[in-house]
Amino acid sequence: MEHNHKNFPTKFLAFLTTSSFLLRLTTALIGSQGEWQLLRNSTGVVAMHMALTYQDTVLMFDQTGFGPSGYRLSKRLHGTRCLGNPVSDARCYAHSVEYHISTNTVRPLRMVSDPFCSSGTFLSNGTLLETGGYANGYRRIRYFHPCNDGTCDWKLSRAKLSDDRWYASNLLLPGENDRVIVVGGQRVFSYEFVPKLFPAEKAFSLPFLRQTYNKTERGNNLYPFLHLSSDGRLFIFANRDSILFDYRRNTVVKTFPRMPGNGSRNYPGSGSSVILPLTHRDRFQKVEVMVCGGGAEGAQTAARAGRFLDGLRTCGRMVITGNKHTWSMENMPHPRLLMDMIILPTGNILFVNGATRGSGGWNNADQPAQRPFLYNPRKPVGKRFSTLKPTKIARMYHSSAILLPDGRVLVGGSNPHQRYTYRNVTYPTELRLQAFAPQYTDKRFSRMRPRNVSVEDSDGVNVKYGQGFLVTFRLAGRPDVLEFNMYAPPFTTHSVAMNQRMLKLRSMRMVREAPHGGSGGKVTVMLEAPPSPNVAPPGISLKLTASFV
Ligand SMILES: *[C@@H]1O[C@H](CO)[C@@H](O)[C@H](O)[C@H]1NC(C)=O
Ligand SMILES: *[C@@H]1O[C@H](CO)[C@@H](O)[C@H](O)[C@H]1NC(C)=O
Ligand SMILES: *[C@@H]1O[C@H](CO)[C@@H](O)[C@H](O)[C@H]1NC(C)=O
Ligand SMILES: *[C@@H]1O[C@H](CO)[C@@H](O)[C@H](O)[C@H]1NC(C)=O
Ligand SMILES: *[C@@H]1O[C@H](CO)[C@@H](O)[C@H](O)[C@H]1NC(C)=O
Ligand SMILES: *[C@@H]1O[C@H](CO)[C@@H](O)[C@H](O)[C@H]1NC(C)=O
Repeated sequence: MEHNHKNFPTKFLAFLTTSSFLLRLTTALIGSQGEWQLLRNSTGVVAMHMALTYQDTVLMFDQTGFGPSGYRLSKRLHGTRCLGNPVSDARCYAHSVEYHISTNTVRPLRMVSDPFCSSGTFLSNGTLLETGGYANGYRRIRYFHPCNDGTCDWKLSRAKLSDDRWYASNLLLPGENDRVIVVGGQRVFSYEFVPKLFPAEKAFSLPFLRQTYNKTERGNNLYPFLHLSSDGRLFIFANRDSILFDYRRNTVVKTFPRMPGNGSRNYPGSGSSVILPLTHRDRFQKVEVMVCGGGAEGAQTAARAGRFLDGLRTCGRMVITGNKHTWSMENMPHPRLLMDMIILPTGNILFVNGATRGSGGWNNADQPAQRPFLYNPRKPVGKRFSTLKPTKIARMYHSSAILLPDGRVLVGGSNPHQRYTYRNVTYPTELRLQAFAPQYTDKRFSRMRPRNVSVEDSDGVNVKYGQGFLVTFRLAGRPDVLEFNMYAPPFTTHSVAMNQRMLKLRSMRMVREAPHGGSGGKVTVMLEAPPSPNVAPPGISLKLTASFV
């Protein structure tokens, strides 16, 4: 697709709109600790990787290389019927599904090549680009273009990656048309671009990955945390170290101070990271990164000998723009690893899933972390964390979480075993699907939720960088302060939310009509679009959120 970077093609959806589905499930009031909802007893396939599409469906997939899933097919994905004993025939089982949010149903997809521990990113037209995996998937490139009629499926690209990418990370780049960078992989100390600028373009060596690789610990720098800074450069965090990287010139611009404390933040240490919400107040210039949890020093070696060390309890925050860089450290309520960090529409961070002891990898963790943490980045140190309602389901290795358009967080997966194993193990393969509903989704706030949100003319809106655009919606209540946030939905796996990003937008003008009837008064707002692709890489599936203070 020809793509003009002056444009910012965006389909907006409103967060915090109450769906009838949510109302059906929520009978009691949701308290400040939130509520767990069991959506399905089985998705059939472990939600090891998840991504929310702009068609409001969720892709879930695991791996094709280790036998049957929990989703038996009547026909092989290639068309022929599954007769006799299909257990030995992997093609008689789905390894990817599409979850349809409003109907709460799953549809099997045809996953080609093994995407085990792969990485992904949405392109500007809403297609998911998915790269790498294991064995026959090491160098594969797959696409999924979302649809609303249940006909779309995975497509395997004829192009291949230059290096094996097992446990790599992806990020959509701002400057070039829909170029994606793919960084790292097991024993692979390089990065590359998809698509390539010219057919013979190879991978580029990245010594930083070799320097941060711990052989005895199986890496501890895999699935590096990637964040796009406001100057268009790339922040890369691996193990305990981080750099600012100019991928256009293949140069390290800055080496940041090492994060204090021992242990490792990246896979298999398996901490997590976000870029805190950027704000229009400084023209989105200040960028602050947060890295939390992970595995203790030697945790991987110890876990494989059956000893589960306490995970890391600390988080570090560091401003990566400007000239002064220091990690400010703070404690989580308890040690945590294998968790997801999801930015909520309020700008707070939800920590969900994971364990308190051990490391990543098969059967390497113990003591599930069943209470989510809520983190408010605006409060003073010591007052930022609170703990929320615990779930009854352990979500260990190979679990994931994503934010839904209505503000809930979808939580799925967990499988610390090679095969689907339901019995005689401490942490069985988990196929149940849950949503965590934060307090703001409660019915009592319905009057504060925007309804009938539309952005200028709702079809094919091209919001231009740095320019005003109109948003209208209906609002029954009259909150004192209205905030408008834009959210890029991530691809999540192995505690990493690739491309997750939230921007606090400036409201230039707002007109509120008096409420009439149940649907409330019309509100018309002129919002200022982000100034550049460095601040907001283009995307169709960005979500507009409104929150009330
Ligand atoms: C899950 O299974 C239990 C036990 O069979 C049943 O009571 C419950 O209604 C099911 N829940 C859903 C969401 O299907
Ligand atoms: C979206 O962009 C990708 C990459 O350029 C392309 O392969 C795909 O066909 C596009 N999808 C549609 C529906 O245009
Ligand atoms: C970090 O590890 C070193 C070497 O093993 C040890 O001497 C030191 O006490 C550790 N520091 C902390 C804070 O645990
Ligand atoms: C790798 O991890 C081990 C713990 O298993 C630690 O003793 C060692 O210092 C680490 N190596 C490097 C280069 O950091
Ligand atoms: C259950 O696990 C134990 C210990 O791993 C093993 O000895 C036993 O044979 C298993 N039982 C079954 C029924 O698989
Ligand atoms: C708001 O949207 C609902 C459902 O899409 C529709 O039925 C209703 O007529 C709309 N209300 C207004 C005032 O546009």
